[in-house]
Amino acid sequence: MARFSTLLALCAAATAATASPFVVRDSPVSLPLARRVAFTGAARIVELDQARAALLKNVGHGKGGQLKRADLEAVNQLTHYTVEVGIGSPATTYTLLVDTGSANTFIGVNQTYVKTSTSNDTGNSVSVTYGSGRFSGEQFTDTVTLGNVTIQNQGISVANQTLGFPSTIDGILGIGPSGLTKGTVSGGQVVPTVLDNAFEQGAITAEAIGISFEPASNASTANGLLTLGGSDSSRFVGNINVATITGTSPASNYVGIDQTVRYGNDTPILSQTAGIVDTGTTLILLASDAFAAYKNATGAVTDTTTGLLKITNDQYANLQSLFFTINLVDYELIPNAQIWPRSLNTLIGGDANSIYLVVADLGSKSGEGLDFINGYSWLERFYHVYVPQRNTVGFANTQYTHSEVN
Ligand SMILES: *[C@@H]1O[C@H](CO)[C@@H](O)[C@H](O)[C@H]1NC(C)=O
Ligand SMILES: *[C@@H]1O[C@H](CO)[C@@H](O)[C@H](O)[C@H]1NC(C)=O
Ligand SMILES: *[C@@H]1O[C@H](CO)[C@@H](O)[C@H](O)[C@H]1NC(C)=O
Ligand SMILES: *[C@@H]1O[C@H](CO)[C@@H](O)[C@H](O)[C@H]1NC(C)=O
Ligand SMILES: *[C@@H]1O[C@H](CO)[C@@H](O)[C@H](O)[C@H]1NC(C)=O
Ligand SMILES: *[C@@H]1O[C@H](CO)[C@@H](O)[C@H](O)[C@H]1NC(C)=O
Repeated sequence: MARFSTLLALCAAATAATASPFVVRDSPVSLPLARRVAFTGAARIVELDQARAALLKNVGHGKGGQLKRADLEAVNQLTHYTVEVGIGSPATTYTLLVDTGSANTFIGVNQTYVKTSTSNDTGNSVSVTYGSGRFSGEQFTDTVTLGNVTIQNQGISVANQTLGFPSTIDGILGIGPSGLTKGTVSGGQVVPTVLDNAFEQGAITAEAIGISFEPASNASTANGLLTLGGSDSSRFVGNINVATITGTSPASNYVGIDQTVRYGNDTPILSQTAGIVDTGTTLILLASDAFAAYKNATGAVTDTTTGLLKITNDQYANLQSLFFTINLVDYELIPNAQIWPRSLNTLIGGDANSIYLVVADLGSKSGEGLDFINGYSWLERFYHVYVPQRNTVGFANTQYTHSEVN
């Protein structure tokens, strides 16, 4: 608890100050991230993202009936990025979904927990309810290995009951703000994330995590990179522009930012408002009113089969860039970046020759404190570095920002 208070104090101090440039560590630790797009029934892609968005909003607002504040996560079963994580000594390797929208690390979906001499049962039970499922089990501490970084006494949840997760993962590596674990473990303590502990134990010299996703034209590929302790300069071009985490709730509970969105040079889509970047959301979700403005501006129609917006070849030829302005810096999402990879159309129940857009309806109107989610369709075009220690997140262009890969 004392540790958490310190963290809060640091965050408060960081909010008051102007965000200073992020110091890049010379020798950070990088781990490959594998991307998987699984087949889903028609219309599931938007439905799953909206379910997650609704849960993130309600939990952050303290609404949602039985949901506790930290019961916050809807797992995206359709598309996800995973990393290989070692647990125990000798370590067993688990495939964990990487999620900045939550902070519990849990295993037990596919592979069961292999206990070793470093396994330590805390005697506490743990339970997290998800939009599409839930798990419950026992809270342990154990040695966790991420690449060459070894973390002692890391809190991990060992599920004995899971519901609604794909069997391709063993669990989740939650790297969002550790305050999100509040209320999940009996006894009530906040569980520091792997990032918190790696920093506290001196394995990394900055409490930062750099995330590189890249566009891909096939369902399964290991083209991402997760960097602990800093950023990887081979994965971005130009500067990293830093923004302070938004003060607006519920976005402030996550990797939250303030942003405006415009279409082309002069069509406003969303005025300055709070939302989040999230590795657990596939699409780019905009509040319903902003989404309507985007739909109108593009001339797209809603495709009932996929649930996505669909445009004709002529409309695609006329599509303008969508500009996301964060802390006075414009991030340009070119027309090609606004469309679902055409080689993956059939995976989402679409027609191979159609053009679908990755901008979708958040499912609620703007002005509610979480008005957009820049999911990984967005994050595949921009590098980001989350620095909880400073309460900031930085963004940069990449070699894929302007590439015509979709
Ligand atoms: C991990 O390996 C990198 C080089 O690959 C090195 O720079 C870094 O210091 C190592 N970290 C630890 C904790 O050993
Ligand atoms: C298990 O946890 C307790 C309480 O944190 C600690 O005192 C003990 O050293 C741990 N044991 C191992 C084997 O890590
Ligand atoms: C799962 O673990 C919890 C916490 O230790 C325990 O209370 C519960 O009985 C266990 N359930 C099953 C089905 O083993
Ligand atoms: C589940 O885990 C086992 C290893 O215990 C692995 O061989 C298998 O491929 C995994 N299942 C899936 C669907 O990935
Ligand atoms: C999958 O896509 C990645 C990135 O576009 C590419 O590097 C890789 O070769 C592709 N793999 C296959 C089997 O096509
Ligand atoms: C739709 O777009 C037209 C111009 O293309 C504009 O005049 C009109 O105001 C827009 N309507 C809405 C609701 O945004």
